[in-house]
Formats: sequence, structure tokens, C-alpha cells
Amino acid sequence: MFKKMNLWNKSKTNLTINERVSRILEQPIPKHVAIIMDGNGRWAKRRALPRVAGHHEGMKTVKKITTLANRLNIETLTLYAFSTENWKRPKHEVDYLMGLPEEFLGSFLPELIAENVKVSMIGDNSRLPAKTKKAVEKAIEQTANNTGLNLNFALNYGGRSEIVEAVKKISTDVKNGEISVDHIDHECISHYLMTHALPDPDLLIRTSGELRISNFMLWQIAYTELWFTDVLWPDFSDKHLIDAVEAFQKRTRRYGGLNDKESKK
Ligand code: FPP
Repeated sequence: MFKKMNLWNKSKTNLTINERVSRILEQPIPKHVAIIMDGNGRWAKRRALPRVAGHHEGMKTVKKITTLANRLNIETLTLYAFSTENWKRPKHEVDYLMGLPEEFLGSFLPELIAENVKVSMIGDNSRLPAKTKKAVEKAIEQTANNTGLNLNFALNYGGRSEIVEAVKKISTDVKNGEISVDHIDHECISHYLMTHALPDPDLLIRTSGELRISNFMLWQIAYTELWFTDVLWPDFSDKHLIDAVEAFQKRTRRYGGLNDKESKK
């Protein structure tokens, strides 16, 4: 008991990563963390390297952060790895980005399996190159029964396209008499989204100092806590994820209402 109190009284700068992990595990952990992994290009430019070197380094960060997220008992980590708008980038960069899931899973799938991580994906996989699709499908299949962190890649994902697809499916189901118009409510719309099996994100992190959402999980983040950092994604480390979770634990979530203390006043 004394040990726990001491940890909370100490400044985070005097604590090791392990002590900070123990400390945050005493408080509610965000169930679903979503990350806009930004700043790979700038990381590379600062080192006079090609942009793709930044993406490669960013891939290594994905592995580190996945391991810590799993250790923190986060249930789902959704990573924005390729947006529906990223096709506008030069072909060689798109090709490189599309090769990363294969490289990542080729290197790390055995470790992810050993760590009990389950892989999933949101996004339109019909436009992904066959090798990318195959690598992701294989990982999904081989980790389907795992019960640890759900590592959810957003690949060829866009929030607006997701909503358009949901509206089309709902319209079709109404037209075919599967559901009535009165049936359409928040829960119904969530059910038609690609994230239907997931809770909404509790915490959204964006790296690299940009303060925007960039078409990511537009419906799902209605009440998500946002956390921005200037750190570029390849430099994002365990310490930064812990900073974000600590910040989350200090927030009061009200969902547009009042919290318990305020209601009693
Ligand atoms: C944005 O940074 C980043 C991306 C478009 C790609 C993110 C992908 C990864 C971090 C690797 C994913 C790994 C796997 C395993 C799929 P940017 O290029 O826009 O950076 P900039 O704003 O500095 O130019």
C-alpha cells in the first residue's frame, strides 16, 4: 500500500518505465486506443534520408508500442497505417507503404503470436495489392484465437467512405424490408460500420504536432479523449504512450452530461 502511494507521490521524471507502468495499471486503462502515426517523412528529412526510411523506422515503432499496449492491458490498438487519401502520394511511396504490412508481419508475426496479440483490419481491402492482403489475412487467421491486445490496422481506411458504405448498406436493408426506418439510431449506425465489433476509442493520439483528425474514425471519436504530441512517430517511445495514458487518467469524461461529483452539487 505504502509502495503504491509513494509511486503516485513521485514525479514521473524520477520513475523508471516499469514503475510508471505499475502506477498506471492501478487506474482505469483506456480500452481502445487509436493512433494517427504522423511525422515519418519529417523524421527522414531531418536526417537527409528518403521519406520511406521514415516509414521503415515508423514500422519499428509499431512493434514497440504494440508490446507495451499489450502489457498495459489495452484491449484494442487501432493504427492508421494507410488512409484512402494516401493513394495520392508518389507511386514509389505508396508501393513502399503497401509492402510494410508484409515486412512487419513477416518479421514479427511469431512474436505477436507468442505475445497473444490478435491482428485485425479495418478499411477497404479490395484495393490492396495481393501480397499485402495475403499477409494481413494470414496474420488475422493465425491470431484469431488470441485473447491479448487486438492490433487493428486501418489500411485503405477513410472515415467518410466508411460512413458512405454504412449508409448504402442501411438503405439496401431498408429497401429489402430487413430493417425499418424507425430502427435507425446511433447503435444501428455503429453496427453498420467497420468497427462494429469494437468499442469506440477512449483515447486518440496524434503525433508530429498536427492538430487534425484527417478522416480517421469520424463517427467513433464523438466522445474520445484527444492527445496530441510534437514527437514524430519514429521517435514515439514507451515513455510517450505512458504520458498519453497518464493524461487520459487525469481527464474527467462527461459525455455531454455531468460527472458523479458535479451531479450531487
Ligand atoms: C504519415 O506520416 C504516415 C503514414 C502515411 C504511414 C504510416 C505508416 C507507418 C508508421 C508504418 C506502418 C506499419 C505497418 C506495419 C503497417 P507522413 O509520411 O505524412 O509524415 P510527414 O507528415 O512528416 O511527411
